Amino acid sequence: VIDIGALYSTTGAFTYDPGFTSTASCESAITFIDGDAGILLHRGYPIDQLAEHGDFLEVCYLLLYGELPTKAQKDDFDYRVTRHTMVHEQMSRFFTGFRRDAHPMAVMCGVVGALSAFYHDSTDISDPYQRMVASMRLIAKMPTIAAMAYKYHIGQPFIYPKNELNFAANFLHMCFAVPCEEYKINPVLARAMERIFILHADHEQNASTSTVRLAGSSGANPFACIAAGIACLWGPAHGGANEAALNMLGEIGHVDHIPEFIARAKDKNDPFRLMGFGHRVYKNYDPRAKIMQKTAHEVLGELGIKDDPLLDIAMELEKIALTDSYFIEKKLYPNVDFYSGITLKALGFPTTMFTVLFAVARTVGWIAQWKEMIEDPHQKIGRPRQLYTGAPERDYVPIAKR
Ligand code: ACO
Repeated sequence: VIDIGALYSTTGAFTYDPGFTSTASCESAITFIDGDAGILLHRGYPIDQLAEHGDFLEVCYLLLYGELPTKAQKDDFDYRVTRHTMVHEQMSRFFTGFRRDAHPMAVMCGVVGALSAFYHDSTDISDPYQRMVASMRLIAKMPTIAAMAYKYHIGQPFIYPKNELNFAANFLHMCFAVPCEEYKINPVLARAMERIFILHADHEQNASTSTVRLAGSSGANPFACIAAGIACLWGPAHGGANEAALNMLGEIGHVDHIPEFIARAKDKNDPFRLMGFGHRVYKNYDPRAKIMQKTAHEVLGELGIKDDPLLDIAMELEKIALTDSYFIEKKLYPNVDFYSGITLKALGFPTTMFTVLFAVARTVGWIAQWKEMIEDPHQKIGRPRQLYTGAPERDYVPIAKR
């Protein structure tokens, strides 16, 4: 009989770390977070500088290749990405197989996974050129697929990409243009969209990125890995939090009801949590939330929305929570999702699209992390161990004797 307990003592050091709170799963040179100080750097550059001065494809280049591009490198990168923005025409028919009221994230999981059935050539991960093509395809096609998911959801015809527009403006065009009317890009709103994409581009080994790395560690093709990342991102504790945060603000309904919801968040017998608050790594203000708050004000100002009750509730909630001993002791601050929902709603997106937009932005982070892993000579298949808590070894009993 095998002594199961003794097995652990023969395998050397054995750590039990549910949720990986203190275990590094890899080495990475892409993103640095100091959660106590509220610092986020991509390849050494502070997120606020990138969000203020950069454009999304410049940040994509930085994440993928480690340096900001020169003008010539940027032009070449923009060209390489934009020539992949179309999806195979057959894919548009694929969308019509889904129920019209399907959640767009459900559609994204299916359609992005199916890219490997449409673009076989770039599933060969041993070829660096094909890895690069797969990366370009994913970055370029995600906004197109996301916009198609949206258009299908609202029953409008698909709008083809307009490659003379930049990444964010093109996305707004594909979502909001209709064939019979001229659609003018508002530069303030396009810039806000771009900033939202930059803020969500990468965030080191979060749940969805770890999912992408784990899937990729088996040699799975990049389209399948990104589909796995999208599925993980959908959860309300992760990317689904922006949708949940906006729903929560709507549920609170009025600043007068805030104390009641704060009390519920503190009550251990109530599963309710303040959505958009708290973070596994940030034990300080999420630096992305500050930029997101400013962006929310800019968008509402541009649209002439003077009093948005949800923004009023959000700001008051933040003020009260930041002075409450429960939130102070547990170091719970607003995260990036707290203000992004208000901004996305003002831009015209329904809540069901919020996590989809997060996935569009995060694709580059997933791809950069996947590429780094594939190119790491020490890379191994991800294979966590477990602490077995089940029955000891015993003999099979025929069904008639059980
Ligand atoms: N509201 C109320 N209490 C909270 C909240 C919250 N939003 N977040 C954490 N807490 C409390 C927990 O109840 C726990 O209390 P305890 O020590 O008395 O048991 C303590 O703070 C620590 O919380 P954990 O869940 O153990 O922390 P963890 O690091 O595992 O969770 C998480 C982080 C999932 C983000 C959590 O803060 C949460 O659920 N927040 C709301 C959802 C959200 O906004 N998610 C977005 C994250 S950012 C992103 O994905 C882009």
